[in-house]
Amino acid sequence: MTLLALDHHLDPGSLAEQMARDVAAGLVWTPRTLPPKYFYDAAGSVLFDQITRVPEYYPTRTEKALLEAHVAEISEISGAVTLMELGSGTSEKTRLLLRTLHDAGTLKRFVPFDVDPAILTEASTAVASEYPGLEVAPVVGDFEKHLMQLPRGERRLLAFLGSTIGNLDPDQRAAFLNGVRGTLEQGDFFLLGTDLVKSPERLVAAYDDAQGVTAAFNKNVLRVLNRDLDADFDVDAFEHVAVWDAENEWIEMRLRSTRAQSVRVGRIGLDVELEQGEEIRTEISSKFRRAAVTQELARAGLEITHWWTDPANDFALSLSRPV
Ligand code: SAH
Ligand code: AVI
Repeated sequence: MTLLALDHHLDPGSLAEQMARDVAAGLVWTPRTLPPKYFYDAAGSVLFDQITRVPEYYPTRTEKALLEAHVAEISEISGAVTLMELGSGTSEKTRLLLRTLHDAGTLKRFVPFDVDPAILTEASTAVASEYPGLEVAPVVGDFEKHLMQLPRGERRLLAFLGSTIGNLDPDQRAAFLNGVRGTLEQGDFFLLGTDLVKSPERLVAAYDDAQGVTAAFNKNVLRVLNRDLDADFDVDAFEHVAVWDAENEWIEMRLRSTRAQSVRVGRIGLDVELEQGEEIRTEISSKFRRAAVTQELARAGLEITHWWTDPANDFALSLSRPV
């Protein structure tokens, strides 16, 4: 098997420095905000994987079914020699693409890209042993900063699944899509998963599951800050909140302080006074409509060639190419 060493564009030191800057800014903003990328340490990645299996969280199984239905077409159209995946996590759904591209005889290299080195190591090791002969070249990086580190080469397929794009706000999304366009060349394709607008009841349930896995995932960000920034959040004094913002068409996850508390973030010398009931926004998860996805991609110089949805129109996969 050919498993290259992790290509680190985000060593633990620079991630901690970035986290310190983001937290110093975010905790004093109104509303108080923490960026979602800090959910994903080893424990957070395991919790996300568990979320994908709770009954209320439809996106993963819906996107998987869409991939199953259209993977042959995606493989034929892209003829990909290199498959690159942003926010790859376990790369579980990506196995469908790997299998089909491998069987078609075109695939030579897989480049999973993620901010969490633990999940990246686990997934790359597994893929490399499943596909002897495939070069697996994992990259630890931040897709908002390090897209230029993606390898060049002919016929690349860049996948960004799970609707992780929805965790970026509109400005971040525009910058991100410009970055994607900047890395792509003629002959490359971009495969994007987007969760679609649907009833608020279903959406809120998907982000507030009965087993409390999403609540544990949300609170994990406080454990990360306690460990990496020497903070002293009392994790048990926060409750998980998921609300639908109808104007922005996104789900917002928040952590609500159940009592007045002072929090010290030792590494940055920051003291935060939280009132009882005060909330910290930890994630937005935007839900999309076809016209807006088409427009956002077009603004970045990407033209949709294919749009696939499930019969209930819950989730979409789009394939686009640089223009
Ligand atoms: N693609 C998988 C996993 C989605 S979970 C799926 O569809 O199920 C989101 C993944 O993106 C996590 O593995 C997380 O570590 C990664 N991630 C989040 N923010 C990131 C960032 N800024 N840069 C790189 N990876 C990021
Ligand atoms: C990774 N991302 C697309 C997930 C989402 O649905 O926004 C993260 C998540 N947050 C709560 N549940 C899942």
